Amino acid sequence: MHTGATGPVARAMHGDILVVTIDNPPVNALGVDVRRGLTATIDAAGADTAVKAVLIVGSGKTFIGGADIREFGKPPMTPFLPDVCNGIEACSKPVIAVIHGAALGGGLEIALAAHYRLALPAAKLGLPEVALGLLPGAGGTQRTPRLIGAAAALDMMLSGRHVGAAEAAKLGLVDRVVDGADPLAAGLAYAQELVQGGAPVRRTRDATQLADTAAQRAAIDSARAETAKKSRGLFSPLKIVDAVQGALELPFDEGQALERKLFLECLDSPQRAGLVHAFFAERETARAPETRSAKPRPIERIGVVGGGTMGAGIAVAVLDAGLPVTMIERDDEALARGRKHVEKVYDGLIAKGRITPEAKNATMARFNGSTSYDALAQADLVIEAVFEDMAVKHAVFAELDRVCKPGAVLATNTSYLDIDEIAAAISRPQDVVGLHFFSPANIMKLLEIVVPAKVADDVVATAFDLAKKLRKVPVRAGVCDGFIGNRILAVYGQAAHAMMEDGASPYQIDKALRDFGYPMGPFQVSDLAGGDIGWATRKRRAPTRDPRARYVQIADRLCERGWFGQKTGRGYYLYPDGARVGTPDPEVEAIIDAERARAGALSGKAPRSFSDAEIVRRYLAAMINEGANVVHQKIALRPLDVDVTFVHGYGFPRYRGGPMQYADTVGLPTILADIREFAKEAPLFWQPSPLLVELVDKGANFASLNQSA
Ligand code: 3HC
Ligand code: NAI
Repeated sequence: MHTGATGPVARAMHGDILVVTIDNPPVNALGVDVRRGLTATIDAAGADTAVKAVLIVGSGKTFIGGADIREFGKPPMTPFLPDVCNGIEACSKPVIAVIHGAALGGGLEIALAAHYRLALPAAKLGLPEVALGLLPGAGGTQRTPRLIGAAAALDMMLSGRHVGAAEAAKLGLVDRVVDGADPLAAGLAYAQELVQGGAPVRRTRDATQLADTAAQRAAIDSARAETAKKSRGLFSPLKIVDAVQGALELPFDEGQALERKLFLECLDSPQRAGLVHAFFAERETARAPETRSAKPRPIERIGVVGGGTMGAGIAVAVLDAGLPVTMIERDDEALARGRKHVEKVYDGLIAKGRITPEAKNATMARFNGSTSYDALAQADLVIEAVFEDMAVKHAVFAELDRVCKPGAVLATNTSYLDIDEIAAAISRPQDVVGLHFFSPANIMKLLEIVVPAKVADDVVATAFDLAKKLRKVPVRAGVCDGFIGNRILAVYGQAAHAMMEDGASPYQIDKALRDFGYPMGPFQVSDLAGGDIGWATRKRRAPTRDPRARYVQIADRLCERGWFGQKTGRGYYLYPDGARVGTPDPEVEAIIDAERARAGALSGKAPRSFSDAEIVRRYLAAMINEGANVVHQKIALRPLDVDVTFVHGYGFPRYRGGPMQYADTVGLPTILADIREFAKEAPLFWQPSPLLVELVDKGANFASLNQSA
């Protein structure tokens, strides 16, 4: 056997054991060169009498991160991954996989095709293809259930979750777990033991965990029923169940042919394109220009000013990241309330059995509260989350300016206020940045990092570093009213309200958008968040509203009655006896009718009906058009930043990739034609974005702008 390398696959003899090292940074993905190298190496090993066993290891911290996602959607190149896996399984010498880090998707499928599997404590095994709109397509749907049974295999494939070494051993996914961090040493010891013991070639295709057919069929039936309910609108989950049923009913080769057919169907689906777009986009947004040009400042101690909805949620997010937090409130009573908000989150987790009371106490030991700003003297970063009122913000920042040490990062969680103005009022505007969390702040993944004119690059880099520590998805935004998300929301919110006044019921609008893929419609969201929040914003903006612009008053009529949504028992929907799911309210429909009549008397227009398709077209066109404006004005760096904002902050269906990716799949000329048609009746609202017009003129799409920033 020649030692050396075939592309990113290196071979070396250690005695009579051939060590095959996959070295394809950053995650050893199975690109075409790796597939070629593996095939050539396994073929050669089979033919070489000096080789008694083959050890497959991954270089770096990953075993194998899966198929190369960048190849999806491009012309396929041989050898295909299922054939590589079959070649490994067919090898006449025992093949051993040593899993010391992530073995995901195709990476786990390689390991399953090997004859023995050894795991180190840091191993992470998973079949996350479902998150990319796919199914395990290299034998995973056939080998996994044969090895660990249908129920466990379906759980892994439908959830995409990562399984640690101990659980993998318990499931029967790996043969042994050994301590240590050196995969080569551990693997060689195991391989020598197998060779000396005369261990046979043992193929997963012959494993017998599917033998009890009745029990396995029951597991498949129940997964199918559950999936139909839970994965509404998703394409690949039911295909996964079909493939596992094939594993039960068909010989291995026929099952694999079925898997291949289903895999190719998934690969071709727009959902796969949307989910892969989301995967790369959310990694891309974590890299802003400032993260390349500057080093983050160290952050060990964090302060939060305000212990209301957001301040408490942010404090939990900080505590969950293992960092200490100091909360400042106005007085003892407010501070006690703030602390209670924080504790309530952990009490909820205790009630659900997710943490122990001791764990809560250990976490709360990192929480400090004070009514004196002096407690922030040593903080490295402070996040202000007090009332949305410029005078209050100025007062808080003046205090921070007074007490904080030089170099401390001073952040505001404001939703709409001008951060340049907040920064300009203190002596260190270079340290002021926006950190716009979403409610509930300990759960929602999105963090808009708002970059004012005078902020230093290393402060922005620090904000991105904080996002990573808090496990948030950061998106860089410029200063404007509402930044990326709330600014666009305001526009498509108006489109929804206009449709309501023109004849569509809020219940129909909600349903049309749920059918599009949203977990909830906009009026359900308003009821959940509380109608009073939007009402306060509308009142604040009233003096600057364009008098020519259409203003639908239905929401105000509900708020004037104190109908703010779930918390008041009624909003657009009724929530009798604290119900969490609302029912349509005839009184609301009557109020809407009266408003339609009032508006109609002025405009001369009668209410009309809307199809669900028209509702979606108008709602999305408004969102996409304002998204284009936000990119055009450089509030968002690229269209993909808008996509990530909406997927992680506003419930936009991830499988559609985001509004701008969706626009590309519909076609920008179609979107522009819609806007021009809608503009015939409402030219002030439906003004095509200059960027949209420019792209259509050039025959380009939003994706063409994603590489440029
Ligand atoms: N293919 C191509 N690139 C990949 C990749 C893959 N499978 N997995 C990760 N990358 C890239 C990322 O895009 C990123 O690139 P960048 O630096 O240019 O942004 C880089 O590798 C590092 O990724 P992360 O930032 O995510 O690094 P982490 O260390 O945080 O996580 C990981 C590593 C756990 C491997 C994580 O990247 C991950 O979960 N990757 C996806 C795994 C996956 O879904 N595999 C299944 C693929 S589908 C498949 O195998 C089909 C088969 O069944 C036929
Ligand atoms: P809230 O009213 O629930 O909490 C505000 C808290 O700030 C109160 O506990 C109050 O006692 C405290 N406070 C007021 N003045 C203070 C001062 N001078 N010093 C110390 N504490 C003071 O408000 P909420 O919803 O938490 O909002 C806070 C900020 O976060 C606002 O700027 C808001 O726009 C923003 N925001 C709100 C979101 C939401 O969904 N509620 C989402 C994202 C941002």
